Amino acid sequence: MNNFTFYSPTYFDFGKDTEKDAGALVKRFGGTKVLIHYGGGSVVRSGLLDRVKASLEAAELPYVVLGGAQPNPRSGLVYQGIELVKKEGVDFVLAVGGGSSIDSAKAIAAGAVYEGDFWDFYSGKRIENALPVGTILTIAAAGSEGSPDSVITNENGMYKRGASGDAIRPRFSILNPALTQTLPAYQTACGITDIMAHLYERYLTNTEEVEVTDRLIEALLLTMVHEGPRVIADPDCYDARANIMWAGMMAHNNSCGVGRSQDWNSHNIEHELSALYDCAHGAGLAVTMPAVFTYVMQHNVMRFAQVAVRVWGCSMDFAHPEVTAKAGIEALRAFLKKIGMPGNFAELGAKEEDIPKLVESLCRGNGRGGSISGFVTLDEADCTEIYKMMARA
Ligand code: NZQ
Ligand code: ZN
Repeated sequence: MNNFTFYSPTYFDFGKDTEKDAGALVKRFGGTKVLIHYGGGSVVRSGLLDRVKASLEAAELPYVVLGGAQPNPRSGLVYQGIELVKKEGVDFVLAVGGGSSIDSAKAIAAGAVYEGDFWDFYSGKRIENALPVGTILTIAAAGSEGSPDSVITNENGMYKRGASGDAIRPRFSILNPALTQTLPAYQTACGITDIMAHLYERYLTNTEEVEVTDRLIEALLLTMVHEGPRVIADPDCYDARANIMWAGMMAHNNSCGVGRSQDWNSHNIEHELSALYDCAHGAGLAVTMPAVFTYVMQHNVMRFAQVAVRVWGCSMDFAHPEVTAKAGIEALRAFLKKIGMPGNFAELGAKEEDIPKLVESLCRGNGRGGSISGFVTLDEADCTEIYKMMARA
């Protein structure tokens, strides 16, 4: 296991009706004037926004409101949010919604206390300072409620990049699984897929002797394999939603990723798809992961065989471990199909003729030097082949 530091100061308030605690929690973490930031309107329709406002009012906290964060949140709204925060003297940013609202809120919080252009953080500069952020989560997926990360799409070129820093880890996150019951089945499944991707991206490591994190990841993957189909069949199943919601947080606050090298090639390859086609991140990952895993499997067949046996129940073929490894990848593919995810470019709305553009942006965009690296290093030829596998799956 490698050396590591781990700082995860988020206060979690989990369970039914917990959104009523919003005002008290903002106060507890020092906020005196709040920006409530949300997405396209699901929180208006569900009545959640009104309940959050009532909670802030009960705590005598003034607030301003900015909606409109789109899935794959855009840079333009971040600039607007930064202006608003400065003009209004806001000192606490409260995201109400999914990963997109949360990531947009984090970008606003970092940009509001920075002299330069907030995009510097999405071009490699680490975030050291930000206004405090709180979240009220409405979809189990991105894990942004516990992560030090934010992903924004630059409208000037439509490419998607991430920024990181402990300063944008939420001070508190309110997780009420019942809030996710209004999700369409497709979005629920996208969330399940993203959570599983966060686990796989950590599982694919080149670090030896990481039994504790391997076992944690396997436990969370098994939970998703069990609870995913249950919640798709019964969307009102609170307990399945509760297990998925906490798994989603654990999958991405990095408690499962410490002390080991991680992959993230699937995420990078997918981000080009959601930037170009505006598809859901989880749906893009459903098409990406089986192709990437098949392509890189030979790099460490035993790692893929291990997850095949321990998570997917495949029997170990000791004479031909690659058979077991492949069976595990096919089990993942079948699972994703079963929960309603797309399996190839056509089902996702992507086009084979765009592959050169995707590869160019992936390997060269925003200062990259012709390749991406993680579990293995992938150059332009590798990435072209992987996108082709996705187109022809
Ligand atoms: O915008 P509204 O109207 O709220 O609708 C959303 C949106 O259309 C809807 N929705 C959310 N909760 C709902 C609901 N509809 C009904 N009932 C509810 N309870 O679902 C749609 C998707 O929402 P979004 O916030 O985009 O989903 P998600 O949480 O999957 O976030 C995706 C974004 O997170 C980024 C992705 O790249 C993508 O941009 N990621 C962020 C990460 C991080 N910060 O750590 C890591 C991830 O790997 C990921 O890259
Ligand atoms: Zn993700």
